[in-house]
Amino acid sequence: MASSSRGQFTTRLGFILAAAGSAVGLGNIWGFPTNTAENGGGAFLLIYLAMVVLIAFPMLVAELTIGRYGQSNPIGTLKKIWNGKPVIAIILGVIAMIAASLILSFYSVLAGWLAGHAIAPVLELVSLDSAAKWLVTETLARNMFLTALFSLMTIYVVQRGVADGIEKWSTRLMPVLFILFFVMIAYIFTQDGAVKGLKMYLIPDFSHISPKLIIDAMGQAFFSLSLGVGTMMVYGSYLKKDANIPKTAGQVAAIDTGVALTAGLLILPAMTVAQHNGVQIFNDSGELLSSGALVFSVLPNMFETMGTAGLFLAAMFFVLMVIAALTSSISMLEVPVSCAQEELNSDRSIATWVIGGAIMLLSFVICANTGTLIDLVALVSTVYMQPLLGAAWAIVLGWVWHRNGVLKELQQGNPEIENGLFWKIWPWYVRFVCPIAIFAIFALPFV
Ligand code: TRP
Repeated sequence: MASSSRGQFTTRLGFILAAAGSAVGLGNIWGFPTNTAENGGGAFLLIYLAMVVLIAFPMLVAELTIGRYGQSNPIGTLKKIWNGKPVIAIILGVIAMIAASLILSFYSVLAGWLAGHAIAPVLELVSLDSAAKWLVTETLARNMFLTALFSLMTIYVVQRGVADGIEKWSTRLMPVLFILFFVMIAYIFTQDGAVKGLKMYLIPDFSHISPKLIIDAMGQAFFSLSLGVGTMMVYGSYLKKDANIPKTAGQVAAIDTGVALTAGLLILPAMTVAQHNGVQIFNDSGELLSSGALVFSVLPNMFETMGTAGLFLAAMFFVLMVIAALTSSISMLEVPVSCAQEELNSDRSIATWVIGGAIMLLSFVICANTGTLIDLVALVSTVYMQPLLGAAWAIVLGWVWHRNGVLKELQQGNPEIENGLFWKIWPWYVRFVCPIAIFAIFALPFV
Protein backbone atom coordinates (compact mmCIF):
# COMPACT_ATOMS: atom_id res chain seq x y z
CA MET A 1 0.00 0.00 0.00
CA ALA A 2 1.39 3.38 -0.97
CA SER A 3 1.18 5.65 2.01
CA SER A 4 -0.69 8.84 1.43
CA SER A 5 2.31 11.04 2.18
CA ARG A 6 4.03 9.71 -0.94
CA GLY A 7 3.29 11.23 -4.29
CA GLN A 8 0.34 9.56 -5.88
CA PHE A 9 -0.39 9.90 -9.50
CA THR A 10 -4.12 10.04 -9.83
CA THR A 11 -4.33 10.41 -13.58
CA ARG A 12 -2.38 8.73 -16.33
CA LEU A 13 -1.32 12.12 -17.62
CA GLY A 14 -0.11 13.04 -14.15
CA PHE A 15 2.10 9.98 -14.13
CA ILE A 16 3.44 10.56 -17.62
CA LEU A 17 4.29 14.14 -16.75
CA ALA A 18 6.00 13.19 -13.51
CA ALA A 19 7.97 10.37 -15.13
CA ALA A 20 8.78 12.56 -18.13
CA GLY A 21 9.69 15.32 -15.68
CA SER A 22 12.16 12.94 -14.09
CA ALA A 23 13.53 11.87 -17.46
CA VAL A 24 13.76 15.33 -19.01
CA GLY A 25 16.54 17.24 -17.35
CA LEU A 26 20.13 18.29 -17.72
CA GLY A 27 20.79 14.97 -19.42
CA ASN A 28 18.71 16.03 -22.39
CA ILE A 29 19.58 19.68 -22.69
CA TRP A 30 23.19 19.55 -21.58
CA GLY A 31 24.46 15.96 -21.52
CA PHE A 32 23.12 14.83 -24.85
CA PRO A 33 24.39 17.77 -26.94
CA THR A 34 27.73 17.69 -25.11
CA ASN A 35 28.17 13.98 -25.68
CA THR A 36 27.17 14.42 -29.31
CA ALA A 37 29.66 17.22 -29.88
CA GLU A 38 32.40 15.26 -28.11
CA ASN A 39 31.75 12.11 -30.11
CA GLY A 40 31.66 13.52 -33.61
CA GLY A 41 27.97 14.37 -34.07
CA GLY A 42 25.69 12.22 -36.21
CA ALA A 43 27.39 8.92 -35.43
CA PHE A 44 26.68 9.41 -31.72
CA LEU A 45 23.11 10.43 -32.49
CA LEU A 46 22.48 7.19 -34.37
CA ILE A 47 24.02 4.92 -31.76
CA TYR A 48 22.18 6.81 -29.03
CA LEU A 49 18.83 6.26 -30.74
CA ALA A 50 19.65 2.57 -31.13
CA MET A 51 20.48 2.36 -27.40
CA VAL A 52 17.20 4.00 -26.43
CA VAL A 53 15.12 1.63 -28.55
CA LEU A 54 17.09 -1.56 -28.00
CA ILE A 55 18.14 -1.32 -24.35
CA ALA A 56 16.73 1.65 -22.46
CA PHE A 57 13.09 1.28 -23.47
CA PRO A 58 12.82 -2.44 -22.58
CA MET A 59 14.58 -1.65 -19.29
CA LEU A 60 12.18 1.19 -18.57
CA VAL A 61 9.26 -1.21 -18.97
CA ALA A 62 11.07 -3.67 -16.68
CA GLU A 63 11.74 -1.14 -13.94
CA LEU A 64 8.21 0.27 -14.00
CA THR A 65 6.69 -3.22 -13.94
CA ILE A 66 8.83 -4.32 -10.99
CA GLY A 67 7.94 -1.14 -9.12
CA ARG A 68 4.22 -1.31 -9.74
CA TYR A 69 4.13 -4.91 -8.60
CA GLY A 70 6.04 -4.07 -5.42
CA GLN A 71 3.89 -1.06 -4.43
CA SER A 72 6.76 0.00 -2.23
CA ASN A 73 10.21 1.58 -2.13
CA PRO A 74 12.97 -0.23 -4.10
CA ILE A 75 14.19 -2.22 -1.09
CA GLY A 76 10.66 -3.27 -0.14
CA THR A 77 9.85 -4.13 -3.72
CA LEU A 78 12.96 -6.27 -4.19
CA LYS A 79 12.25 -8.06 -0.92
CA LYS A 80 8.80 -8.90 -2.18
CA ILE A 81 10.16 -10.34 -5.42
CA TRP A 82 12.98 -12.20 -3.68
CA ASN A 83 10.57 -13.62 -1.21
CA GLY A 84 12.79 -15.30 1.41
CA LYS A 85 16.15 -13.74 0.47
CA PRO A 86 15.98 -10.31 2.00
CA VAL A 87 19.75 -9.83 2.21
CA ILE A 88 20.32 -9.70 -1.56
CA ALA A 89 17.31 -7.40 -1.88
CA ILE A 90 18.68 -5.05 0.76
CA ILE A 91 22.19 -5.02 -0.71
CA LEU A 92 20.97 -4.22 -4.22
CA GLY A 93 18.51 -1.65 -2.92
CA VAL A 94 21.23 0.07 -0.91
CA ILE A 95 23.60 0.17 -3.91
CA ALA A 96 20.81 1.75 -5.95
CA MET A 97 20.24 4.32 -3.18
CA ILE A 98 23.94 5.17 -3.15
CA ALA A 99 23.98 5.55 -6.93
CA ALA A 100 20.94 7.85 -6.82
CA SER A 101 22.56 9.94 -4.08
CA LEU A 102 25.88 10.23 -5.97
CA ILE A 103 24.05 11.36 -9.08
CA LEU A 104 22.09 13.91 -7.10
CA SER A 105 25.28 15.23 -5.48
CA PHE A 106 26.86 16.36 -8.75
CA TYR A 107 23.55 17.16 -10.42
CA SER A 108 22.84 19.78 -7.74
CA VAL A 109 26.16 21.50 -8.42
CA LEU A 110 25.43 21.73 -12.15
CA ALA A 111 21.85 22.83 -11.56
CA GLY A 112 23.12 25.45 -9.11
CA TRP A 113 25.30 26.97 -11.85
CA LEU A 114 22.26 27.11 -14.11
CA ALA A 115 20.34 28.88 -11.35
CA GLY A 116 23.17 31.43 -11.24
CA HIS A 117 22.85 31.97 -14.98
CA ALA A 118 19.09 32.37 -14.55
CA ILE A 119 19.38 35.04 -11.86
CA ALA A 120 22.31 36.96 -13.37
CA PRO A 121 20.45 38.44 -16.40
CA VAL A 122 17.71 39.71 -14.08
CA LEU A 123 20.31 41.45 -11.91
CA GLU A 124 21.88 42.90 -15.03
CA LEU A 125 18.55 44.32 -16.13
CA VAL A 126 18.35 46.25 -12.86
CA SER A 127 22.01 47.27 -13.16
CA LEU A 128 23.36 45.12 -10.34
CA ASP A 129 26.27 44.21 -12.59
CA SER A 130 28.80 43.13 -9.99
CA ALA A 131 26.34 40.79 -8.27
CA ALA A 132 25.46 39.35 -11.67
CA LYS A 133 29.12 38.82 -12.40
CA TRP A 134 29.67 37.08 -9.05
CA LEU A 135 26.92 34.59 -9.89
CA VAL A 136 28.51 33.51 -13.15
CA THR A 137 32.16 33.50 -12.05
CA GLU A 138 33.62 30.27 -10.71
CA THR A 139 34.45 30.65 -7.02
CA LEU A 140 33.98 28.26 -4.12
CA ALA A 141 31.62 30.63 -2.31
CA ARG A 142 29.40 31.05 -5.35
CA ASN A 143 29.41 27.31 -6.08
CA MET A 144 28.37 26.54 -2.53
CA PHE A 145 25.74 29.26 -2.41
CA LEU A 146 24.08 28.13 -5.63
CA THR A 147 24.33 24.43 -4.81
CA ALA A 148 22.69 25.06 -1.44
CA LEU A 149 19.96 27.06 -3.14
CA PHE A 150 19.14 24.24 -5.53
CA SER A 151 19.46 21.49 -2.89
CA LEU A 152 17.06 23.32 -0.60
CA MET A 153 14.52 23.59 -3.41
CA THR A 154 14.79 19.83 -3.99
CA ILE A 155 14.44 19.07 -0.28
CA TYR A 156 11.50 21.43 0.06
CA VAL A 157 9.52 19.72 -2.70
CA VAL A 158 10.31 16.14 -1.68
CA GLN A 159 9.63 16.84 1.96
CA ARG A 160 6.10 17.89 1.07
CA GLY A 161 5.49 14.78 -0.97
CA VAL A 162 5.36 15.11 -4.72
CA ALA A 163 3.21 18.16 -4.34
CA ASP A 164 0.50 19.19 -6.68
CA GLY A 165 2.52 22.26 -7.39
CA ILE A 166 5.42 20.63 -9.14
CA GLU A 167 3.15 18.53 -11.33
CA LYS A 168 1.09 21.54 -12.30
CA TRP A 169 4.24 23.54 -12.87
CA SER A 170 5.69 20.92 -15.16
CA THR A 171 2.48 20.79 -17.19
CA ARG A 172 2.50 24.50 -17.69
CA LEU A 173 6.18 25.11 -18.11
CA MET A 174 7.34 22.22 -20.27
CA PRO A 175 5.39 23.61 -23.25
CA VAL A 176 7.05 26.99 -22.62
CA LEU A 177 10.42 25.28 -22.80
CA PHE A 178 9.46 23.86 -26.18
CA ILE A 179 8.29 27.22 -27.52
CA LEU A 180 11.49 28.82 -26.31
CA PHE A 181 13.52 26.11 -28.01
CA PHE A 182 11.80 26.80 -31.30
CA VAL A 183 12.30 30.57 -31.03
CA MET A 184 15.99 30.03 -30.31
CA ILE A 185 16.40 27.47 -33.09
CA ALA A 186 14.74 29.81 -35.59
CA TYR A 187 17.05 32.60 -34.45
CA ILE A 188 20.25 30.58 -34.55
CA PHE A 189 19.65 29.57 -38.15
CA THR A 190 19.67 33.22 -39.17
CA GLN A 191 23.31 33.35 -38.03
CA ASP A 192 26.45 32.53 -40.02
CA GLY A 193 27.99 29.18 -39.23
CA ALA A 194 24.81 27.42 -38.07
CA VAL A 195 24.56 25.07 -41.04
CA LYS A 196 27.97 23.64 -40.23
CA GLY A 197 26.66 22.55 -36.83
CA LEU A 198 23.51 21.13 -38.34
CA LYS A 199 25.57 19.03 -40.77
CA MET A 200 27.77 17.80 -37.98
CA TYR A 201 24.65 16.80 -36.05
CA LEU A 202 22.79 15.05 -38.82
CA ILE A 203 25.42 13.59 -41.14
CA PRO A 204 27.03 10.64 -39.39
CA ASP A 205 30.75 10.13 -39.74
CA PHE A 206 31.16 6.45 -38.98
CA SER A 207 34.89 6.75 -38.42
CA HIS A 208 33.98 8.13 -34.99
CA ILE A 209 32.39 4.92 -33.80
CA SER A 210 34.56 3.43 -31.06
CA PRO A 211 34.03 1.43 -27.88
CA LYS A 212 34.08 4.68 -25.93
CA LEU A 213 31.33 6.15 -28.10
CA ILE A 214 29.17 3.07 -27.62
CA ILE A 215 29.67 3.01 -23.85
CA ASP A 216 28.97 6.74 -23.63
CA ALA A 217 25.80 6.34 -25.69
CA MET A 218 24.58 3.57 -23.41
CA GLY A 219 25.38 5.62 -20.29
CA GLN A 220 23.63 8.63 -21.79
CA ALA A 221 20.50 6.58 -22.58
CA PHE A 222 20.37 5.15 -19.04
CA PHE A 223 20.92 8.57 -17.56
CA SER A 224 18.37 10.29 -19.73
CA LEU A 225 15.63 7.80 -18.87
CA SER A 226 16.55 7.86 -15.15
CA LEU A 227 17.19 4.11 -15.19
CA GLY A 228 19.02 1.76 -12.86
CA VAL A 229 18.96 3.59 -9.55
CA GLY A 230 15.38 2.86 -8.52
CA THR A 231 13.82 6.14 -9.65
CA MET A 232 11.53 4.51 -12.17
CA MET A 233 10.87 1.67 -9.73
CA VAL A 234 9.58 4.11 -7.13
CA TYR A 235 7.58 6.04 -9.71
CA GLY A 236 6.17 2.75 -10.99
CA SER A 237 4.96 1.99 -7.48
CA TYR A 238 2.83 5.12 -7.65
CA LEU A 239 1.32 4.13 -10.99
CA LYS A 240 -2.29 3.02 -11.04
CA LYS A 241 -3.00 -0.63 -11.70
CA ASP A 242 -5.14 0.11 -14.74
CA ALA A 243 -2.34 1.82 -16.64
CA ASN A 244 -0.86 0.10 -19.69
CA ILE A 245 2.83 -0.03 -18.77
CA PRO A 246 4.50 -0.62 -22.17
CA LYS A 247 2.44 2.14 -23.75
CA THR A 248 3.11 4.56 -20.90
CA ALA A 249 6.82 3.76 -21.03
CA GLY A 250 6.80 4.38 -24.77
CA GLN A 251 5.27 7.80 -24.27
CA VAL A 252 7.79 8.74 -21.60
CA ALA A 253 10.70 7.56 -23.76
CA ALA A 254 9.34 9.44 -26.77
CA ILE A 255 8.99 12.73 -24.87
CA ASP A 256 12.47 12.34 -23.41
CA THR A 257 14.10 11.58 -26.74
CA GLY A 258 12.17 14.36 -28.47
CA VAL A 259 13.50 16.92 -26.00
CA ALA A 260 17.07 15.65 -26.39
CA LEU A 261 16.90 15.76 -30.19
CA THR A 262 15.46 19.28 -30.10
CA ALA A 263 18.18 20.44 -27.73
CA GLY A 264 20.79 19.08 -30.14
CA LEU A 265 19.17 21.01 -32.95
CA LEU A 266 19.72 24.19 -30.97
CA ILE A 267 23.05 23.60 -29.33
CA LEU A 268 25.18 22.12 -32.09
CA PRO A 269 24.36 24.93 -34.54
CA ALA A 270 24.80 27.47 -31.71
CA MET A 271 28.21 25.95 -31.14
CA THR A 272 29.44 26.44 -34.70
CA VAL A 273 27.96 29.96 -34.70
CA ALA A 274 29.96 30.74 -31.56
CA GLN A 275 33.08 29.27 -33.16
CA HIS A 276 32.41 31.47 -36.17
CA ASN A 277 32.30 34.43 -33.75
CA GLY A 278 35.70 33.49 -32.37
CA VAL A 279 34.68 31.67 -29.18
CA GLN A 280 37.02 28.77 -28.50
CA ILE A 281 35.17 25.54 -27.74
CA PHE A 282 37.52 22.76 -28.73
CA ASN A 283 41.18 22.47 -27.75
CA ASP A 284 43.90 21.77 -30.30
CA SER A 285 43.34 18.03 -30.27
CA GLY A 286 39.64 18.50 -30.99
CA GLU A 287 38.25 17.77 -27.51
CA LEU A 288 35.68 19.98 -25.85
CA LEU A 289 37.43 22.49 -23.58
CA SER A 290 35.16 21.56 -20.69
CA SER A 291 31.90 19.75 -20.32
CA GLY A 292 30.34 23.05 -19.35
CA ALA A 293 31.56 24.77 -22.50
CA LEU A 294 28.40 24.26 -24.53
CA VAL A 295 26.02 25.61 -21.94
CA PHE A 296 28.17 28.27 -20.34
CA SER A 297 30.05 29.78 -23.29
CA VAL A 298 28.03 28.87 -26.36
CA LEU A 299 24.57 29.85 -25.17
CA PRO A 300 25.66 33.07 -23.43
CA ASN A 301 27.49 33.95 -26.64
CA MET A 302 24.26 33.50 -28.54
CA PHE A 303 22.24 35.55 -26.06
CA GLU A 304 24.81 38.37 -26.23
CA THR A 305 24.32 38.74 -29.96
CA MET A 306 20.62 39.35 -29.27
CA GLY A 307 20.93 42.56 -27.23
CA THR A 308 18.41 43.29 -24.47
CA ALA A 309 16.03 40.67 -25.84
CA GLY A 310 18.88 38.25 -25.23
CA LEU A 311 18.83 39.06 -21.52
CA PHE A 312 15.16 38.14 -21.29
CA LEU A 313 15.62 34.99 -23.31
CA ALA A 314 18.65 34.02 -21.24
CA ALA A 315 16.74 34.44 -18.00
CA MET A 316 13.79 32.44 -19.32
CA PHE A 317 15.92 29.70 -20.79
CA PHE A 318 17.94 29.15 -17.64
CA VAL A 319 14.87 29.34 -15.39
CA LEU A 320 13.31 26.57 -17.45
CA MET A 321 16.54 24.55 -17.24
CA VAL A 322 16.39 24.86 -13.45
CA ILE A 323 12.78 23.69 -13.44
CA ALA A 324 13.61 20.75 -15.69
CA ALA A 325 16.48 19.93 -13.32
CA LEU A 326 14.22 20.20 -10.29
CA THR A 327 11.63 17.74 -11.60
CA SER A 328 14.59 15.36 -12.07
CA SER A 329 16.39 15.97 -8.78
CA ILE A 330 13.24 15.33 -6.75
CA SER A 331 12.92 11.93 -8.40
CA MET A 332 16.49 11.06 -7.36
CA LEU A 333 15.97 12.11 -3.74
CA GLU A 334 12.70 10.18 -3.66
CA VAL A 335 14.69 6.91 -3.87
CA PRO A 336 16.55 7.06 -0.53
CA VAL A 337 13.72 8.97 1.14
CA SER A 338 11.11 6.35 0.25
CA CYS A 339 13.44 3.62 1.52
CA ALA A 340 13.99 5.40 4.83
CA GLN A 341 10.34 6.22 5.21
CA GLU A 342 9.06 2.70 4.67
CA GLU A 343 11.94 0.46 5.69
CA LEU A 344 12.98 2.41 8.80
CA ASN A 345 9.57 3.92 9.51
CA SER A 346 11.08 7.38 9.52
CA ASP A 347 9.04 10.50 9.39
CA ARG A 348 9.10 11.63 5.76
CA SER A 349 10.05 15.17 6.47
CA ILE A 350 12.87 14.28 8.87
CA ALA A 351 14.18 11.63 6.47
CA THR A 352 14.19 14.15 3.62
CA TRP A 353 16.11 16.77 5.60
CA VAL A 354 18.67 14.28 6.93
CA ILE A 355 19.31 12.51 3.63
CA GLY A 356 19.01 15.65 1.52
CA GLY A 357 21.33 17.44 3.95
CA ALA A 358 23.93 14.66 3.78
CA ILE A 359 23.85 14.74 -0.01
CA MET A 360 24.23 18.52 0.10
CA LEU A 361 27.40 18.11 2.16
CA LEU A 362 28.73 15.75 -0.47
CA SER A 363 27.86 18.37 -3.09
CA PHE A 364 29.93 20.91 -1.14
CA VAL A 365 32.93 18.61 -1.35
CA ILE A 366 32.38 18.46 -5.10
CA CYS A 367 32.08 22.26 -5.21
CA ALA A 368 35.58 22.55 -3.80
CA ASN A 369 36.99 20.27 -6.50
CA THR A 370 34.75 20.84 -9.49
CA GLY A 371 37.54 20.24 -11.98
CA THR A 372 38.06 16.61 -10.98
CA LEU A 373 35.16 15.44 -8.87
CA ILE A 374 32.21 16.23 -11.15
CA ASP A 375 33.60 14.12 -13.97
CA LEU A 376 34.72 11.36 -11.61
CA VAL A 377 31.44 11.06 -9.69
CA ALA A 378 29.48 11.26 -12.93
CA LEU A 379 31.63 8.56 -14.50
CA VAL A 380 31.29 6.13 -11.61
CA SER A 381 27.58 6.67 -11.04
CA THR A 382 26.21 7.15 -14.54
CA VAL A 383 28.55 5.31 -16.87
CA TYR A 384 29.14 2.27 -14.65
CA MET A 385 26.64 1.96 -11.79
CA GLN A 386 23.51 2.78 -13.77
CA PRO A 387 23.91 0.21 -16.58
CA LEU A 388 25.20 -2.44 -14.17
CA LEU A 389 22.24 -1.94 -11.85
CA GLY A 390 20.06 -2.04 -14.95
CA ALA A 391 21.52 -5.45 -15.76
CA ALA A 392 20.66 -6.49 -12.21
CA TRP A 393 17.01 -5.50 -12.69
CA ALA A 394 16.91 -7.37 -15.99
CA ILE A 395 18.16 -10.44 -14.16
CA VAL A 396 15.64 -9.92 -11.36
CA LEU A 397 12.79 -9.68 -13.85
CA GLY A 398 13.99 -12.41 -16.18
CA TRP A 399 15.35 -14.98 -13.73
CA VAL A 400 14.14 -14.32 -10.21
CA TRP A 401 10.58 -13.25 -10.71
CA HIS A 402 8.23 -15.89 -12.05
CA ARG A 403 7.21 -15.28 -15.66
CA ASN A 404 3.54 -15.65 -14.78
CA GLY A 405 3.89 -12.99 -12.12
CA VAL A 406 5.28 -10.59 -14.72
CA LEU A 407 2.45 -11.40 -17.09
CA LYS A 408 -0.17 -10.89 -14.41
CA GLU A 409 1.25 -7.50 -13.53
CA LEU A 410 1.27 -6.38 -17.17
CA GLN A 411 -2.21 -7.75 -17.81
CA GLN A 412 -3.63 -5.26 -15.34
CA GLY A 413 -4.11 -2.32 -17.64
CA ASN A 414 -3.49 -4.40 -20.75
CA PRO A 415 -5.61 -7.59 -20.64
CA GLU A 416 -4.81 -8.55 -24.23
CA ILE A 417 -1.04 -8.35 -23.81
CA GLU A 418 -0.46 -12.10 -23.83
CA ASN A 419 -1.53 -12.38 -27.47
CA GLY A 420 0.47 -9.44 -28.76
CA LEU A 421 3.93 -9.16 -30.26
CA PHE A 422 5.29 -7.36 -27.19
CA TRP A 423 4.80 -10.36 -24.92
CA LYS A 424 6.36 -12.69 -27.50
CA ILE A 425 9.60 -10.74 -27.57
CA TRP A 426 10.08 -8.69 -24.43
CA PRO A 427 10.30 -11.35 -21.65
CA TRP A 428 13.13 -13.34 -23.23
CA TYR A 429 14.66 -10.18 -24.54
CA VAL A 430 14.97 -8.79 -21.00
CA ARG A 431 16.01 -12.21 -19.72
CA PHE A 432 18.83 -12.80 -22.18
CA VAL A 433 19.58 -9.93 -24.52
CA CYS A 434 19.56 -6.98 -22.12
CA PRO A 435 22.03 -8.29 -19.53
CA ILE A 436 24.30 -9.84 -22.15
CA ALA A 437 24.26 -6.68 -24.26
CA ILE A 438 25.12 -4.50 -21.25
CA PHE A 439 28.04 -6.70 -20.21
CA ALA A 440 29.21 -7.07 -23.82
CA ILE A 441 29.30 -3.31 -24.27
CA PHE A 442 31.49 -2.98 -21.18
CA ALA A 443 33.77 -5.69 -22.55
CA LEU A 444 34.21 -3.87 -25.87
CA PRO A 445 37.36 -1.93 -24.97
CA PHE A 446 39.06 -5.20 -24.08
CA VAL A 447 38.44 -7.10 -27.29
N1 TRP B 1 17.04 11.77 -16.42
C1 TRP B 1 17.38 13.02 -15.82
C2 TRP B 1 18.10 13.89 -16.84
O1 TRP B 1 18.17 13.56 -17.98
C3 TRP B 1 18.22 12.87 -14.59
C4 TRP B 1 17.72 11.85 -13.62
C5 TRP B 1 16.60 11.88 -12.86
C6 TRP B 1 18.34 10.66 -13.29
N2 TRP B 1 16.52 10.76 -12.10
C7 TRP B 1 17.58 10.01 -12.34
C8 TRP B 1 19.51 10.13 -13.76
C9 TRP B 1 17.96 8.79 -11.85
C10 TRP B 1 19.89 8.92 -13.26
C11 TRP B 1 19.13 8.25 -12.35
O2 TRP B 1 18.60 14.92 -16.51
